[in-house]
Amino acid sequence: MAHTIVIFGASGDLTSRKLIPALYSLFKKGKLDQVLRIVGVSRSPFEHAAYRDSLRESTEKFTKDLFDAESWEQFSNQIFYHAGDIKEAEDFEKLAGFLTEIEEGEPVGRIYYLSTMPQLYLDAIQQLGAAGLADDSDGFRRVIIEKPFGTDLGSAQFLNEQIHKVFREDQIYRIDHYLGKETVQNMFALRFANSIFEPIWNRNYVDHVQITVAEEVVIGRRAGYYDGSGILRDMFQNHILQLMMITAMEPPARYDSSLVRDEKVKVLHSVRKMIGGDFATNTVRGQYKGYLNEEGVPANSQTETYAALKLYCDNWRWKGVPFYLRSGKGMSCRTTQIVIQFREVPHILFGQKTRAPMGNRLVIQVQPAEGIQLHFESKVPESEMKTRTSTLDFDFNASSTGGMPDAYQRLLLDALLGDASLFARSDEVELAWGIIDPIIAAWSSPAAPELHQYQTGQWGPTESNQWMADQHREWFDVCPVLCH
Ligand code: BG6
Repeated sequence: MAHTIVIFGASGDLTSRKLIPALYSLFKKGKLDQVLRIVGVSRSPFEHAAYRDSLRESTEKFTKDLFDAESWEQFSNQIFYHAGDIKEAEDFEKLAGFLTEIEEGEPVGRIYYLSTMPQLYLDAIQQLGAAGLADDSDGFRRVIIEKPFGTDLGSAQFLNEQIHKVFREDQIYRIDHYLGKETVQNMFALRFANSIFEPIWNRNYVDHVQITVAEEVVIGRRAGYYDGSGILRDMFQNHILQLMMITAMEPPARYDSSLVRDEKVKVLHSVRKMIGGDFATNTVRGQYKGYLNEEGVPANSQTETYAALKLYCDNWRWKGVPFYLRSGKGMSCRTTQIVIQFREVPHILFGQKTRAPMGNRLVIQVQPAEGIQLHFESKVPESEMKTRTSTLDFDFNASSTGGMPDAYQRLLLDALLGDASLFARSDEVELAWGIIDPIIAAWSSPAAPELHQYQTGQWGPTESNQWMADQHREWFDVCPVLCH
């Protein structure tokens, strides 16, 4: 059965930078076994040929060595453009007619990709329903929804309720592009395809977990979105909690979308809700110096561009083990890493002259230096029994030919194949908001903890380091060794 992907927001950045290059890469790698038609929908008028041409340059740029003119010609012949306004019911009827025309009345599987402004998601869904475009009696109908999915628990619940009036949950694919990253999926392999890690992956051996998503970039021209959002909504509710779920979840019985997501959801259920004094003791907020001068940012903005949280999972595996989560814009380098810090040995045999041995540490580098390092103690040669930290280093990139595929390739292919394991389910999104909302509320209250300023190009506010030091711990920073 042929497939059609209808992209709403066809003239947007995501379409040209991510979606079309990802689909072209899948085509070029021979991963699409069916005819794939792509229909771009947005308001501006375009001829099919002009639309195809407008996508060529960016596809070439983002697929680099994979690109060649001949296969682009073949692929882009199946790209169409249809002008339409999401607010206009009539335009959806025309779209329905146009789809039947290009699909030649054959049964097809269709995906509707919402890559529009989030304020338009609901309109698009309702119009799809009203125009009969959600009817899946002659082929699947799925909808992919970009983040942000709501702006708080209430709005996410409302969105879910309304979408469920048109699409069943198994037709809905809420995207979190972090789940499409190879290194994030490699966490499943690391944890559940090896027997050596799982026995020690718990409170008996792990002292704490650190999850860092640091970005060098500042907000640029995104003030309109970012200032109303802040880092908790932009990074924690979705990407960082996803990384935490995959780190903390129990093994599912099978790698199957409902079983995987059931286990992830159980992690969110176990996260201890912050109350009272927790907001002051278990969180750090920061804003980079210069944020208030960014174009479009109000002069008195209290929006945070850095956050560090200490969360606990109250369950048998993790009771008492802190999960330190942090993210910031304007940091010293771009790096995403998950650090499992194991406990120290119970008794030190060797009279250390310089320092006590550190606990072992497993560092999972999600990006950009994709890989895994295990830090362990070894003897300093020619010393008495002195030890130092050594590293076993696995370079994930070196084990793949042609570099890491972009996350959107995996996610688009899975959506075409009907595998929702790497997409967020309705309960998952709502529970995640339930964890983040109280923190946002506390940070917006008169009793909010101080918003610390930090210099760009550093590791966030110095208070965050002090906060860790007060807990006899330290952030594990890899820069500049591994950030390249
Ligand atoms: C997006 C956020 O979801 O993720 C951005 O809105 C952030 O603010 C981006 O920069 C980070 O994604 P990646 O894949 O570059 O780490």
